[in-house]
Amino acid sequence: MKALFSILFISMNSLLFSQEFSLPALPYSYASYEPYIDAQTMEIHHSKHHQAYVTNLNKALAGTKMATLSMNQLLMDASFRSDVVRNNAGGHYNHSLFWEILAPKDKQTSIVQEAFNEAIKAQYGSMDSLKKALTQAASTRFGSGWAWLIVTPDKKLMVTSTGNQDNPIMDISKDRGIPILGIDVWEHAYYLKYQNKRGEYLSGIFNLIDWGIVSDKYTKALIDPLLIEIEKDNWFALKDFHKVMGQTFHPSEEGNLIPLRTRSGELLAKAILLSSSKPPVSKDKPEVHKSLYNLTEQCEKIYELVAKNAKDEVLIKEITKAHDLFHQVQELCHD
Ligand SMILES: [Fe+2]
Repeated sequence: MKALFSILFISMNSLLFSQEFSLPALPYSYASYEPYIDAQTMEIHHSKHHQAYVTNLNKALAGTKMATLSMNQLLMDASFRSDVVRNNAGGHYNHSLFWEILAPKDKQTSIVQEAFNEAIKAQYGSMDSLKKALTQAASTRFGSGWAWLIVTPDKKLMVTSTGNQDNPIMDISKDRGIPILGIDVWEHAYYLKYQNKRGEYLSGIFNLIDWGIVSDKYTKALIDPLLIEIEKDNWFALKDFHKVMGQTFHPSEEGNLIPLRTRSGELLAKAILLSSSKPPVSKDKPEVHKSLYNLTEQCEKIYELVAKNAKDEVLIKEITKAHDLFHQVQELCHD
């Protein structure tokens, strides 16, 4: 009976909290993107390829802890995910963005925000130069992949590219940020009409990019909390310390002090590395350095207490203090 209740409880939980991803409808008919992308390519691309990413993603997540994670969480920790989750989560995210920023010429939003225009001018000189940089990134991407325009954590524009279905939100990407424009350079995006002529497809695709939508995405990305998460995630010393802190503090909360007793030296070493590392530009502030200094001192105290074989309750109190101090640093990083 108890087992039956547990099964019911688990099933209810997954029903309540798990999510299913679904294929977004295209804003226009398949034929609306002619002559730059033919209707048959659009139909196969959307209803078969994109649908397959959605179906395979849902299948891979079903019944796992990942079923409750948001798309951003799935992407951010891509290096910890299986290939099937990484490829299909990326495939779903990337294509959803692609459909959003494409529109037939007569349906395109004409309003491009001034701030976006200014950012393009300041960094690329002109819209034409930006298009050239995107074309270069798209045409030199070896094999299948994407070319991107992203907003980086320091709120700059950047053109970059990734292979397969990876994207710049993922922790495996060299250049990270929030994508505001993506160009699919998989052959399935253009082969029927253009065969191997990727360059011709790229010249065509610029007729379909709705810069008004890209500009709205730029404005939203600048204030998106995800940008701060990516910046923190790129601070490797912070990430490294967090891992050891989690693996020593959480067991001690449950009364298991063995991880802390055996790893207090490692915890201190990671704290020293963190406090001597260079924070990302926007976090390079006196209050962050001060908190890191306090955190290191606290880890040193714990290390000494462990060496003296201090009682469990003393260590629990001190590691809890260290954990609170670390959260102070993390909160400061949200400023
Ligand atoms: Fe595609």
